[in-house]
Amino acid sequence: MTKAPLARQTEAVLNRSLSIVGGRLQIEECDAAYLAETFGTPIFVVSERHVRANLRRFKQAFAQHWPWGPVRIMCAFKAAPLLALRRILSDEGSGCDIFGPGELEGAIRGGVAPELISVNGSIKDRSMIQRAVAHGARVVVDSTRELLLCEEVATELKLSARVMIRVKPFLKDLTLESDFLPGAEIRELTQIIKYGVPTAELHELVSFIAKSTCLDLVGVHAHMGRHSKFSEVWQAWTRHCVEIIALIRDQLPDWSPREIDLGGGFPSESDRDTDVAVQGYEGASLDVFAEVIATTLHSELLKSGFDPTGVTLEVEPGRGLHTDTGIHLATIRNVKEETIHRPRKWSEMDTSEVFLGVGGLNDEPPFDFIIANKASETKTDCGDLVGMSCNAEILFQQVATPKVEVGDVVALLNTGAYIEPMAANFNSLPRPGTVLVSGDQADWAKRPESVDEVFARDQVPTFVMEAK
Ligand SMILES: Cc1ncc(COP(=O)(O)O)c(C=O)c1O
Repeated sequence: MTKAPLARQTEAVLNRSLSIVGGRLQIEECDAAYLAETFGTPIFVVSERHVRANLRRFKQAFAQHWPWGPVRIMCAFKAAPLLALRRILSDEGSGCDIFGPGELEGAIRGGVAPELISVNGSIKDRSMIQRAVAHGARVVVDSTRELLLCEEVATELKLSARVMIRVKPFLKDLTLESDFLPGAEIRELTQIIKYGVPTAELHELVSFIAKSTCLDLVGVHAHMGRHSKFSEVWQAWTRHCVEIIALIRDQLPDWSPREIDLGGGFPSESDRDTDVAVQGYEGASLDVFAEVIATTLHSELLKSGFDPTGVTLEVEPGRGLHTDTGIHLATIRNVKEETIHRPRKWSEMDTSEVFLGVGGLNDEPPFDFIIANKASETKTDCGDLVGMSCNAEILFQQVATPKVEVGDVVALLNTGAYIEPMAANFNSLPRPGTVLVSGDQADWAKRPESVDEVFARDQVPTFVMEAK
């Protein structure tokens, strides 16, 4: 447990956890440069207060517009796969969207109530489905093959398996392009990407459900992703999702969905995710997304002859929940300057593109950044902030900074979602740890990797050892 020094006057509040106090960056009540010194760098730092506040924002927004039944926030585990964070989210009563056996284990160890675990993903195998059904989790089937495995396993365990069908709504009249891939239409991408039961396979799949005595079809699931910040996309997504729900009911006349999960893909407030090509335009707010989704769902269900009363509405935010809750800290270990052929100044940081899931040749800075110990100083320097692997690693090219010196701490902002889990071991670099901050307290949520661990899975076959 490490306490940070008491801070001085607040000069700027940057978001729910970051502020500039006495010329230095603070996360909650902890001084960022002090954390870097105490825990070592590179490190990821996450704010408990910020995570809780973001989750409550989601809950409130959707609950306000969906008074007809319960609202569940099924946080996407993949975005921030830390048991400590998951414990916090579980403590708030939230559910969990998981993909694959590792994440299922993470949800269980992270204290998620079994009935709030939703098992997503493609090519689920028998052992995973067995673990999920035996544990009481819900399985979101992605194919008829998975549904039949659920039936087999449930029969064997003498249990009823709660299943959802992941569907592929076709946004036929929507010509908007995706923010992930400018030039490509969302309606095309959401069809050509592998996820979901092909609409052509739906009839056969539902006919198996009709015959089954141990499959409980609780509802449908449809995840689109962060393709757009325009609310009309969500309106179309919700509408076409209900269209598929009605198709299912055509085969199961007495059935109606009890749970409808419309997936994730909500932008974070900062909207600074490194995997989204188009950002920064004025989109809808979370409240508007919630309103559009809830009112569309309500009216489309009614139109199709369903009673929305008691239906649970679920969403699965990942980036929208976590992106702005975390920062990454690195220390400048060397500053060097070329003044002859091509004048250039490099500040060499002890982090790397391989920990940050970004390429190392960036015309635009991939992250917003602050020199944590000089947060209020005038920017009089210009140079490259480079990473430490053997790649070129021009992470921040020709950026303005205060006068940089060895020992300065660089804080990369908005690294709370999908960054840490993408860290790799290129150059046999041990991956950074993560520190969790709560008020003026801080401690490891995940310790840094050691070099021994980097090689822990290696073995040298005897035929190599015995070779002459
Ligand atoms: C099924 C599912 N739900 C939710 C999410 C979270 O998406 P986002 O982080 O864009 O909110 C993902 C992300 O890939 C997903 O695959």
